[in-house]
Amino acid sequence: MKFFIDTANLAQIEEAQALGVLDGVTTNPSLMAKEGITGKDNILKHYVDICNIVEGDVSAEVIATDFEGMVKEGEELASLHPQIVVKLPMIADGIKACKYFSDRGIRTNVTLVFSAGQALLAAKAGATYVSPFLGRLDDISTDGLNLIAEIRQIYDNYEFDTQILAASIRHTMHVIECAKIGSDVMTGPLSSIKGLLKHPLTDIGLAQFLADYKKGN
Ligand code: G3P
Repeated sequence: MKFFIDTANLAQIEEAQALGVLDGVTTNPSLMAKEGITGKDNILKHYVDICNIVEGDVSAEVIATDFEGMVKEGEELASLHPQIVVKLPMIADGIKACKYFSDRGIRTNVTLVFSAGQALLAAKAGATYVSPFLGRLDDISTDGLNLIAEIRQIYDNYEFDTQILAASIRHTMHVIECAKIGSDVMTGPLSSIKGLLKHPLTDIGLAQFLADYKKGN
């Protein structure tokens, strides 16, 4: 399973990259705003800065909600850097734009996916990635992991190439459950990646090894 980090924070992206397990970055307008990145030029420059840190795919989201606007914006984003993947909302014009880009070899990530039907449409339109938001489903007492499993089954039934990018990951158990289901990618906060490191028996065992070494040296 690929690990993406879901942030626009350069320090966190650098930290995940330095760990050696990072395969890409996802961003969205809210994450950009959280870092205080505003204005078109600053936003475009920030995408390039992210691409220069990480070696993998970087999702950059369009703001337009009409087909023509998404195509114009998406083409501009895609021309910024070869690592950019154009992120499109799961609406009718987003699906049309997804087909437009996939026909032209431009990679896409269809976002704000909350149902298996939406994921099926995104795959039919040739999306590179589909982003089901599992945490936000869990937030409203709906089983987000079940959606990931449904999409996995549908994509496997028809051998769709679209990769399942489990998004809105909140914690390490989401990561582990997505890996068990066979999600192609997960994107989450740095804490969901670093949390995988932790086990008290590792800490106790290491302390014992070091103490025993000291006794003999
Ligand atoms: O990748 C999607 C993500 O940014 C949404 O996460 O935590 O805002 O639901 P969250």
